[in-house]
Amino acid sequence: MANLEEELQTRRTFAIISHPDAGKTTITEQMLLLGGVVREAGTVKGRKGNFAKSDWMEIEQKRGISVTSSVLQFDFDDKRINILDTPGHEDFSEDTYRTLMAVDSVIMVIDSAKGIEPQTKKLFEIVKERHIPIFTFFNKLDRDGREAFDLVDELESTLGIQAYPMNWPIGSGQILAGLYDLYHKQVEVYRPASNAERFLPLNEAGNDLAQANALQENPLWDEVRDEIELLQDAGNEFDEDAILRGELTPVFFGSALTNFGVETFLSTYMDYAPAPAPKKTATGTLVEPTDENFAGFVFKIQANMDPNHRDRIAFVRIVSGEFTRGMDVTLQRLNKKLRLSNVTQFMADSRENVQNAYPGDIIGVYDTGNFQIGDTIYAGKKAVEFEELPTFTPEMFMRVRAKNVLKQKSFHKGVTQLVQEGTIQMYTAWDSGEYILGAVGQLQFEVFQFRMENEYNTEVTLEPMGAKTARWVNAEQLDPRMASSRNLLVRDRNDAPVFLFENAFAERWFSDKYPDVELETKL
Ligand code: G4P
Repeated sequence: MANLEEELQTRRTFAIISHPDAGKTTITEQMLLLGGVVREAGTVKGRKGNFAKSDWMEIEQKRGISVTSSVLQFDFDDKRINILDTPGHEDFSEDTYRTLMAVDSVIMVIDSAKGIEPQTKKLFEIVKERHIPIFTFFNKLDRDGREAFDLVDELESTLGIQAYPMNWPIGSGQILAGLYDLYHKQVEVYRPASNAERFLPLNEAGNDLAQANALQENPLWDEVRDEIELLQDAGNEFDEDAILRGELTPVFFGSALTNFGVETFLSTYMDYAPAPAPKKTATGTLVEPTDENFAGFVFKIQANMDPNHRDRIAFVRIVSGEFTRGMDVTLQRLNKKLRLSNVTQFMADSRENVQNAYPGDIIGVYDTGNFQIGDTIYAGKKAVEFEELPTFTPEMFMRVRAKNVLKQKSFHKGVTQLVQEGTIQMYTAWDSGEYILGAVGQLQFEVFQFRMENEYNTEVTLEPMGAKTARWVNAEQLDPRMASSRNLLVRDRNDAPVFLFENAFAERWFSDKYPDVELETKL
């Protein structure tokens, strides 16, 4: 199928990770401008565009945030780009993490005045664990930032990844003059006098401008040339394989707000960002995207897209084959046949009803309650089951019970369903059997509470237990007497024992006392 091969080679599916306020929205918007999807800046931020306007849940409107990761698709540079959003702030949740399981590469946006911030680090750890190629954009160069060397050094030491600067700032803030672009052998001038002055070619050796220019009179010029020399002598080698293994990150500088360096970044990124990757099955074999049998997996379920219909949308990442509207597939877990007729694709300017989609694309399948997160769907006779999506170690816990004791039945039904959907994690206390919810972000509790009330007609009481460190132990090594006042022994939903420690000190104390017991984290 030449068509399939061609289509999938043009796909680039990625997420942007960052700490809130680093400029993720602004850079996304510039990309949409470059892709010709929006015509004016401020469309995304101002929520004027269709794609950002969301009426999915009341809670979204109340808080003015987007609860779950959305998908944007647009064309740029002969490529079809799928950007999967990774919500931050208070809307950080397991969905944010799970989105990273559905991308082929990641862009990390860092505020150049602030450097690596906590949320970036958390998300990066997951990217690193999965060996996903990562590209770094140091943003806000139009503001006074930190020294470029200092930023790159922090990136390497804090995140444990090698960096390769693709370009280098000539000043920052008030004195920002441009980018020394080693990769394209040119200087990109900030606020050039004319368009002709925007890109100044470098000489063959790359150590000076090819033609005399006023920029060479700038006191920063010699300084930058020294820095470039240092980078060339002592920096990392450019190594495409290392980039694809997620061991080396190409580093770019720029300013999303003033649209400086964004186009250069995006087009260079498109040169190296990988096309859709094969995916492992539960038995460890690989499904290649060129496999002509359609297969995909559910990485997110969005409930209540339309409160009047109470429908749900399962977000499916296509791994192989071609999706065609109305096709028959099997839902592997239930060995159930389904027809995919009501399917949405997420073009940036509209939510269209999709006819065809290819590996790398995300489709939204309307669901009446069949799907769970992590499910595989496939077409054809040969059964496919993709490897399980990872469980993430929750960091916040709450005791939960039904406000009205007479509502036990719907309480259990709701909890079971929402846990299966991956809205939240559930544990039970080892001895008392009470229910404990675990989450990576506060929003998950709110969504849980909201949906219990609205969909299961059950008000719940949530009692915060604060932050805890969850560590799994091998059931054979467990002695329930290991539980103490500094930890709480619980079961996860597969009945595996987990200790919830008050803090790192309590965990160390435990390890000192029981040196043979291995404490395991999830991702
Ligand atoms: P986020 O999605 O990562 O949370 O960040 P977002 O793009 O919303 O940007 C956060 C703030 O930083 C915004 O300002 C935005 O205008 C600003 N910003 C983004 N990129 C740049 C840049 O390259 N240079 C400068 N100087 N600022 C940048 P705000 O005042 O919080 O919001 P707004 O009122 O301007 O929309």
